[in-house]
Amino acid sequence: MMSTVQVWPEPVIRVQQLSDSGIRVIPDRYVKKPADQPGDAAAASDIPVIDMEGLSSGDAEVTAALIDQACREWGFFQVANHGVSPGLMARCREAWREFFQLPLAEKQRYANSPATYEGYGSRLGVEKGISLDWSDYFFLHFLPIGLRDENKWPTLPVSCRELAAEYSREVVELCGKLMKILARNLGLREDYLLEAFGGEEELGACMRVNYYPKCPQPDRTLGLSSHSDPGGLTLLYSDENVSGLQIRRGDTWITVKPQPNTFIVNLGDQLQILSNANYKSVEHRVIVNSAKERVSLALFYNPKGDKVIKPAEELVSPGQPLRYSATTYNDYRLYIRTKGPCGKSQVESL
Ligand code: OGA
Ligand code: NI
Repeated sequence: MMSTVQVWPEPVIRVQQLSDSGIRVIPDRYVKKPADQPGDAAAASDIPVIDMEGLSSGDAEVTAALIDQACREWGFFQVANHGVSPGLMARCREAWREFFQLPLAEKQRYANSPATYEGYGSRLGVEKGISLDWSDYFFLHFLPIGLRDENKWPTLPVSCRELAAEYSREVVELCGKLMKILARNLGLREDYLLEAFGGEEELGACMRVNYYPKCPQPDRTLGLSSHSDPGGLTLLYSDENVSGLQIRRGDTWITVKPQPNTFIVNLGDQLQILSNANYKSVEHRVIVNSAKERVSLALFYNPKGDKVIKPAEELVSPGQPLRYSATTYNDYRLYIRTKGPCGKSQVESL
């Protein structure tokens, strides 16, 4: 079951329009509570960078161990030499940048609703009056194949549909490889996590293309409020020239410095549940700036919506008690669809 609300509770304002209008002061709806404002930015920092080529060499065990350590200690890492073509990555991102540069009327043809979120959107959450983030996005489904509707994808720029399809094929394949490594690292059969997600035929994959326009008051707002990703794995391809992603580390926020041609990988709440909290789904948010817009492609690799997700029995013992009750991903994400990004309160309530 998706959200039952079919329409937005208020007229939708495109953040890009606000930005282009030249306002000096952002509307109150975008101003965050003082505690949530970016504050003093932490120094840009390097999260672990994993060279995936190591997996097919004599260093396979070392590389797998580095991934395990990153999953336990960070919940985030970057992967280099991951097998996805750098040219394809760059072309796909530039096609989406061109989409956002189209005239408003062209983009409005794809205006989304909270029924499925597919298409061009500017808010998350359907509650009237909620705080808004400084970003627009385009949301599309790749898998399962029955949910994929290319007619809802942009026809302009002309290469957009083809690039998105090709990008999803390659990135989903990479997600499959990572799922096997994670399963083995947890001491499970290598297909355990993939099967828990419903297998290749039924698992979900979707993408949010995020567009963060320039902001005249970047210190007072966020491009995306703090949240943990509700699903399985997220592979983010971020603009290497403009940083914005921050991850929570204890009481501080670390600004991730994206490396060219890498993906930023993070584990979502469903992997925290399946791993019985051996792996953490870490809170993150996005800051904006007044000098440059930023485009990021976030591919979400998720369990089949109605499959029951619970901690792997192999990871539950007297020393490691069961941490979460069973849920389905459909039930789990209803909450975020109502309230919008909401930190980490949700997984902890299970
Ligand atoms: C997301 C996300 C980060 C970014 O889309 O869930 O966290 O840098 N994006 O755009
Ligand atoms: Ni996220």
